Amino acid sequence: SMEPLLANRHIVITAGPTREEIDPVRFISNHSSGKMGYALASAAVALGAKVTLVSGPVNLPCPAGVDLVNVVSAEQMHSAVMKAVGATQSNTASNNVQPNCDIFIGCAAVADYKPQQKTEQKIKKSDTELTLTFTRNPDILSDVAHLAQPPFTVGFAAETQDVAHYAQDKLKRKKLDMIAANDVSQAGLGFNSERNALNVYWNNGGKNLGVADKSQLAISLMTLVAQRHAVK
Ligand code: PMT
Repeated sequence: SMEPLLANRHIVITAGPTREEIDPVRFISNHSSGKMGYALASAAVALGAKVTLVSGPVNLPCPAGVDLVNVVSAEQMHSAVMKAVGATQSNTASNNVQPNCDIFIGCAAVADYKPQQKTEQKIKKSDTELTLTFTRNPDILSDVAHLAQPPFTVGFAAETQDVAHYAQDKLKRKKLDMIAANDVSQAGLGFNSERNALNVYWNNGGKNLGVADKSQLAISLMTLVAQRHAVK
């Protein structure tokens, strides 16, 4: 019998939104449901991979056979990913972290900014306006791609305009092996829906995966990732 396409491969995938706390009762986040990332995790398992899924807060069951790591904030997701890809050492001998990561896929909608300070007490209603100051969060995808020995690194691009242009710019700037662009401006596609439309780019190539259910697109994308990883 044939070896499955991703046999003996360890794949780390991020999924879902992150939440950035403003005060004890409030946060800023986005509409990511985690469906695309969870579908990718299932597809990778089906293709024979060992999968670590680092997930923000979502309402989805853990796919069978997946090693799930739950996080809330972008900073927590960053440290969980660095550990999962083997970039930081854990000093406990009894951890079940996979030391080597072959492929990293950043499907999470990570908050680019977090409130500069999380107030200890609930912010009180006072004036007519409230001004919050935000600071940058770490870029998980870029940090993985810039490791000394990076895994095959795949990013997503969620754009509302000039999708192809911004996706190819991200591919180069973040040193990615591949980027999957979705036009999130189309109703019924992208964030928090069953279907998506993906255009994939790599250095000197690309493929339109069309419009389909996220589970279907996930199989197409994982197959493409496996093929590109094999020829790299
Ligand atoms: O979760 P669903 O409801 O199923 O929706 C799926 C999706 C639309 C969220 C998904 O397909 C998608 O596009 N995910 C990436 C969304 C995003 O935040 O894109 P971006 O263009 O802002 O970020 C580009 C890339 O950098 C992404 O791979 C992202 O994971 C990564 N990133 C961004 C910021 C940051 N601080 N760290 C990161 O790793």
